[in-house]
Formats: sequence, structure tokens, C-alpha cells
Amino acid sequence: ALTEDTTIVVLGASGDLAQKKTFPALFALFQQDFLPKDPKIVGYARTKMDEAEFYKRETKYLKKPKDDQKLADNFDEKLEDFKKISSYVAGTYDEDSGFEDLKKHLEEIEKARGGKTKNRVFYMALPPSVFIPVAQHLKKICYSTEGQNRIIIEKPFGKDLESCREMISAVKDAWQENETYRIDHYLGKEMIKNILVLRFSNPFFDSCMNNHYISNVQISFKEPFGTEGRGGYFDEFGIIRDVCQNHLLQTLSVLTMERPVSFSAEDIRDEKVKVLKCIPPIERKDVLLGQYVAADGKPGYLEDDTVPKGSNSPTFAAMTLWVNNGRWEGVPFIMKAGKALNESKVEIRVQFKDATKGIFQGLTRNELVMRIQPDEAVYIKLNSKVPGFVTQAVPTELDLTYKDRFTDARVPQAYEALIRDALRGDHSNFVRDDELDVAWKIFTPILHWIEGKDGKPPKCEPYPYGSRGPSQIDQFTEKYGYVRASAD
Ligand code: BG6
Repeated sequence: ALTEDTTIVVLGASGDLAQKKTFPALFALFQQDFLPKDPKIVGYARTKMDEAEFYKRETKYLKKPKDDQKLADNFDEKLEDFKKISSYVAGTYDEDSGFEDLKKHLEEIEKARGGKTKNRVFYMALPPSVFIPVAQHLKKICYSTEGQNRIIIEKPFGKDLESCREMISAVKDAWQENETYRIDHYLGKEMIKNILVLRFSNPFFDSCMNNHYISNVQISFKEPFGTEGRGGYFDEFGIIRDVCQNHLLQTLSVLTMERPVSFSAEDIRDEKVKVLKCIPPIERKDVLLGQYVAADGKPGYLEDDTVPKGSNSPTFAAMTLWVNNGRWEGVPFIMKAGKALNESKVEIRVQFKDATKGIFQGLTRNELVMRIQPDEAVYIKLNSKVPGFVTQAVPTELDLTYKDRFTDARVPQAYEALIRDALRGDHSNFVRDDELDVAWKIFTPILHWIEGKDGKPPKCEPYPYGSRGPSQIDQFTEKYGYVRASAD
């Protein structure tokens, strides 16, 4: 673990990701004293700006927490201290000169600190086009020879199997796998981290998570807003690359993997890779695509100025995956993701098979729901007797809503949890190179089909901004055995 003598460099420091996620996470860790002793943070980006302007951007999205009194109380004081440990260097991403300046700056910080070692953590909050040159320049010029080095990178890890392999091998030429931390921020979310505990510490859960009892599983990601100015990036990738191939597939692998031998990073990731290898590439017949259109004064996808005219990029996708192993064969895993929908919600919904009817009529199915956001919760829909003199079953819920049950707990932000793990040297919640390879194998054929690289591309069904998605969605989920009991 890095406990002292560490400088954290945020590359892409003037960008959206750094401002919205990386700096707030670093600040929260700083507030809680989870950064190494005597920490220093250095921003690096192309934009020329003085330190005052940098502090403004660095702290733009920091908010006094409402759910933690202690952190709210020391907020103002810590904010001033946070600025004191931060500094900025401007430079390009593809020439030696900027990285030489950064190196000089790092050496000055390390000299002033006077520590025994010189550890450097590089956080790449960068567009994919500059990943490789930056990783190479950092290794060539800014790599510490007197301490540990870590590089944290973020998706997109390529656009398909081939480009991902190219990117991984280019980064690998410079950085070793044990120095590399590939973020999928869903792995830092509290509920995703709970899945292994729920599944393997409760015989009651563990024993029914298989094809004997489960009819179908849905993993849904719903956002109530469209691309709104982010269309340039989004259009090139589409919803499948944006959230399905990474966040939702990671969720699926944690939900379906076998019990790891231990909680060590390699044991966990070995099991994830094993289960992903059981999933064949998604078939065309198992795909429904959509694109939002204007409704209620909200613009359609194609009206976003940053989206190329006539684009066929999906903003909604439903796809069914099959896990062909003894535990799961025959259970459809329906992945649904969409922008500009009716609500903000990410959840896993495991629907059980029908109970043996016999004495009962019209029973609702059991469902186990794990709500990842908002408001983490685990609840089970089950049938119970109506209290009183009648013997009648009524659907009700066993409900573990975090904010009611864990009233004093503060749930850390995903990025906060992950940066802390990277500083501690724990790879468990980061993506290993071979995970990416199998993940792309599952999605690449349909992605190429959607892009028209393999025959006539499929059509995106239009759906109104703010709706539940294309009108075909209910028929789609029913096809795989899902029985809709209530509004979802
Ligand atoms: C990002 C996607 O990876 O995840 C975004 O690029 C998406 O399009 C975001 O909005 C969702 O993350 P969260 O944490 O808000 O669910």
C-alpha cells in the first residue's frame, strides 16, 4: 500500500471526468485522511491557466455532504488545505516537452517532501485518442525509479475486440499489469460490492441462484436525460459500448460467477473470466434497439447539434445473453439500457419460476431485486397470507432499504472507493486484461452489425423522450419468460 511519499497526477485535469468525479473523490478521501501521508496532487492538461483558475476547476463540483455531519463540519477548512496540496502543469499529450516540465515539477515536490521513496500515481482522465501516447510518455519521462508507479485508466478500452487488443498491448509495452488499474466505476458501487457477500454468505440466497429456480434475470440501466451536448462522444460509441459492454456486463459477471477461492483480486477475477467465457456472442435475434425522438418539448437524439445527421446509433438497447454452464444454462439474462427514459434507476431483477399452484390461484412470482441506484436496496417480492380469517395469499415484500436499515452509514462514491483501492494496491475491483478480451468477444459481432460492417444494419425503433423505451420492449421481455407484475 502507498502510505506516504506519494504524488497523484491527474491527467486531463481540465476535463469533465476529472472535475466531476476524480477531484471530488480525491477530496473526499483527503477529508477522511485516506490519502497517503503528506499527499500532493498535480493536475496536468493542455489548457494554459494559472493556479487560481485551476483551483476553481478542481473544486467546481465539490459539495458539502448532507449525509455526514463530520465531513460537512470540516468541509471549508479541508477545502483550503486541499488547494494547498494541489498544483498544476500545462502541457501537450504527445510531445516530450510537457512531460519534461511535469517531471521537473514532480522532482521539486519530492525534494521538498524529503521522503525516503518517491511514489507516483498517474490518473488518466483522458479521451481514448491520447491514451497510448500519454501512457508511453509517462513511462519514458515521468516514471519514478525510486519508488512505486501506478497508472489508472478508464474506458473506453477500444471499440471492439481488435482495437481493444491493440490498446492493451500498446499500454502493456510500457506498463506492467500489476501497475495498471483499469477502472469500471460500477465495480466501486456499494451494491455491486455487496453482491458477493449476499450470494455467498447466505445459504438461502446461494441455494436458489440457479436454473432450477430462476426463470429470467433483468439488468436494467435507465437514465432520464439524453446526450445533451455529449453527442459527439456518445454517437461514436452508442449505448452498448457506453454502458452494456462494461458496467452491465461487470454486474452480470459478479451476479453469475462461482464462489471464489478467496477474496484476493486474482481469485475473484479468475472466476469472472471463467463465467464470461461461458457466454456466447449475442445473437441478432436477441437484440432490440431504440433511439429517442422529441417529446414534451424535449429534443430528440438527432436534434442534438453534436450528433451527426441521420445517425443510426442506438440510445436504447435490450439484449439477451445466455450463460452456458451447469448453474445457468437456459436462464435468459436480459440487459436493458437507455438514455432519455422515464426515470433514473439501475437494478438487477431476478425473477423466479412459478410456484406450484395446486391450492393457489393467481400467485405473483417471487422476485429478488437489487437496486444499485438511486437509494441502494435489496428486496424480495413474496406471497404472504392476508392477516385475519381468510386463507388468501397476497404479494408483499421483504425489504432492506439501506437508508432505513443502515441509518448511520455513509455510502462512499464509486470513484472514492476505487482510488482508495488503487492506493492500497488492491486490484479486486479493477478490470483485468483477459476480462476485457472475453467481454469484447461477446459484443463485437452485434456491434459490427449495427455499424453496417456485416450486412444491412438493424433499425433503431423510435421512442419518445421520457418514455419506458420502444413500444416493443414488453413483448421483448415476455418472449424470454418475464412476467410483469407491477410498473418497473
Ligand atoms: C458512464 C457513461 O460510463 O456511466 C455515461 O459514459 C453514464 O453515459 C454513466 O451516464 C453512468 O454512471 P452512473 O454512475 O451515473 O450510473
